[in-house]
Amino acid sequence: MKQSEKDSRCTLRTPRVAQLIERLYEDVQANAAKKEEVFGGMSEKERAEFSSTSPDDYRKAYGRAKELYLAVAPQTAHLLYMQARSMNAHTIVEFGTSFGFSTIHLAAALRDNGGGQVIGTEFEPDKIEQAYANLREAGLEDLVDIREGDALETLARDLPGKVDLVLMDGHKPLYPKVLELLRPKLRQGACLIADNASSNEEYLNRVRAADGDFLSVPYEGDVEISIKL
Ligand SMILES: C[S@@+](CC[C@H](N)C(=O)[O-])C[C@H]1O[C@@H](n2cnc3c(N)ncnc32)[C@H](O)[C@@H]1O
Repeated sequence: MKQSEKDSRCTLRTPRVAQLIERLYEDVQANAAKKEEVFGGMSEKERAEFSSTSPDDYRKAYGRAKELYLAVAPQTAHLLYMQARSMNAHTIVEFGTSFGFSTIHLAAALRDNGGGQVIGTEFEPDKIEQAYANLREAGLEDLVDIREGDALETLARDLPGKVDLVLMDGHKPLYPKVLELLRPKLRQGACLIADNASSNEEYLNRVRAADGDFLSVPYEGDVEISIKL
């Protein structure tokens, strides 16, 4: 089989998408020092805003981090693609889009599954603009709707009846609330992938509860994978 035929079975491997992902990941790495600077230079009060459930606080916190290239690790991004492919997902919700690194992987899976939609959500309008520019460059913009605003509002309306897959990657203290919001929409067997999951014990207790409606296991890099029973 020719390489181009193999590529056509996996959008991630097409030169257009593969090169973009490589470049975006270089940007993430180049941003590491800036990240240290921003987080290291925060006062205790500013740090506390990152763990607050008050919208005023967490909006301020992410506003200060709005230029940081935050993204899931490459193996988590691959996991997202693989999971979406293996379950033939068509409806995906992403809590926390940033510049769209994870979104590209999710949308690539939808393309290879024959279509669908990623519903993303993000506070920062500049990040949304950049995420759309990245998705356009990947040729995947038509598969994504990024809703501007707080997920607790943007994901509380107009969601399709059956959600196949969720990426939790926004403000960590909100994971349990976002889970409650999405739970009625999750189809049986729906998958939740939560990054930095250990920062929210309440979320872990919820998805790991022995008598609950999820089955859940930890994965590498502080990621929790759960399915809806
Ligand atoms: C870790 S980054 C997301 C990275 C992205 N998933 C990726 O891998 O490319 C988290 C993003 O979520 C956004 N965010 C955090 N809490 C949010 C909320 N309640 N509603 C909407 N966006 C939120 C932040 O502005 C930030 O850009």
